[in-house]
Amino acid sequence: MKHTLIKTELPGPKSRELTERRTTCVASPMDSLAPFYIKHGQGAVIEDVDGNRFLDFTGGWGCLVTGYSPEKVVEAIKTQSESFLHSDFTVIPYEPWIELSEMLAKKAKGKSEKAVAFFNSGAEAVENAVKIARGATKRRSIVVFEGAFHGRTVLTMTMTQRPMPYKYVFGTAPDVHRLPYPNPRKNKYSPKDFERLLLETVCPEDVAAVIIEPIQGEGGFNVPPEGFLEEIRRVTAKYGILMVADEVQSGYGRTGKFFAIENWGIEPDLITLGKSIAAGLPLSAVIGDKKYFDSLPKSSIGSTFGGNPLACAAAIEVIRMIDGDKLLERALNIGKTIRRSFEGFRQKYPSVKDVRGIGAMLAIEFIKDEEIWSPDTETCQKVIQDARDNGVILAGAGLNKNVIRLLLPLVITDEQLAEGLGIIDKAIENATKKQPMKVKVKKMEN
Ligand SMILES: Cc1ncc(COP(=O)(O)O)c(C=O)c1O
Repeated sequence: MKHTLIKTELPGPKSRELTERRTTCVASPMDSLAPFYIKHGQGAVIEDVDGNRFLDFTGGWGCLVTGYSPEKVVEAIKTQSESFLHSDFTVIPYEPWIELSEMLAKKAKGKSEKAVAFFNSGAEAVENAVKIARGATKRRSIVVFEGAFHGRTVLTMTMTQRPMPYKYVFGTAPDVHRLPYPNPRKNKYSPKDFERLLLETVCPEDVAAVIIEPIQGEGGFNVPPEGFLEEIRRVTAKYGILMVADEVQSGYGRTGKFFAIENWGIEPDLITLGKSIAAGLPLSAVIGDKKYFDSLPKSSIGSTFGGNPLACAAAIEVIRMIDGDKLLERALNIGKTIRRSFEGFRQKYPSVKDVRGIGAMLAIEFIKDEEIWSPDTETCQKVIQDARDNGVILAGAGLNKNVIRLLLPLVITDEQLAEGLGIIDKAIENATKKQPMKVKVKKMEN
């Protein structure tokens, strides 16, 4: 059985109607990847308002490791909604917040006793990790890396490396320093350069935190070279700096471990979580050594809707699903299938030059000239468009938009995965096919 179905031109008539309405009232900078509108989603499949069916390999930008509308999560939200929708934990506290904190604190491995705080978005979690680090260390500076993405508030946008439109249009926050990210293809830095670069850039006695994504998400699924995270851990500990792992995108099972940082056996001081934590409900978290939270004044962190009871109820079921349905194992199995397929693309298509990632968090990079590692943005974008027209929604990544990354729901079936990978294969074939030479035929005179 085919899971994808394209039965109208894209976008279909109902989607076009919605786009017309949208242009009259929706703030225009709020853009969408898909030109069609969702009506229904289940697992890894969505149906649009015109009855077309797609496999969503973006998982709502990585928010759906447990898929669209998992039954148990929906049930838990319904049950919670019948008791109360909101009270604000900082006014009248409730059990789901405590239960979820207990579950997450247990998941976070390491020597230190853990505490958890909830917020709404990934950016808010990162901002609060900065607040906690500044409060605990009484220092100001924050160190981030090339290719990083940490959010779109003024502080997190400054921490993000995407000059246009972010910094040029909106300005920057102070005390953020960016260091190179060692990448043998793009620069000559090695993990051992980290301490020297840090000392050349900022006074370590003023650094509150070094924040790093264990695997860069928007930056193009860049996996740190061997020894880099370990070196950051060593150097941060040496100078009393907090190491923060931003796992908003890489966490929650995608790499085959609950926390991506577990792949390196490192215990960071703080971890930020978001996206998949509550199956698509807005929820984010900061988890870390309890002593850092305890060093802050009462009520110094918080947010009106952060840790909303519906989101907490959903998030409790998400963790039960990850454990009960063995989604970490599933991530590794899916990852093997995807990697095999991606390696096949690399053999077949000269512009696919790199396959990278861990577990099911995998990407391919399109390159024009391997010598200078020049991005093939055009081919990459053509593949994304062709795949979408044929039923697979894909997310691009990388500063040059020349990477395709998979953020698919881990509940995807083997048949759905095979169908989706087949559509991507065909899309690359179409995008890289040599155009037949146009031969001018001279009209015969008679
Ligand atoms: C690593 C990382 N941190 C933070 C964020 C910001 O999350 P949000 O968009 O929920 O604010 C993102 C979003 O893509 C992310 O990938």
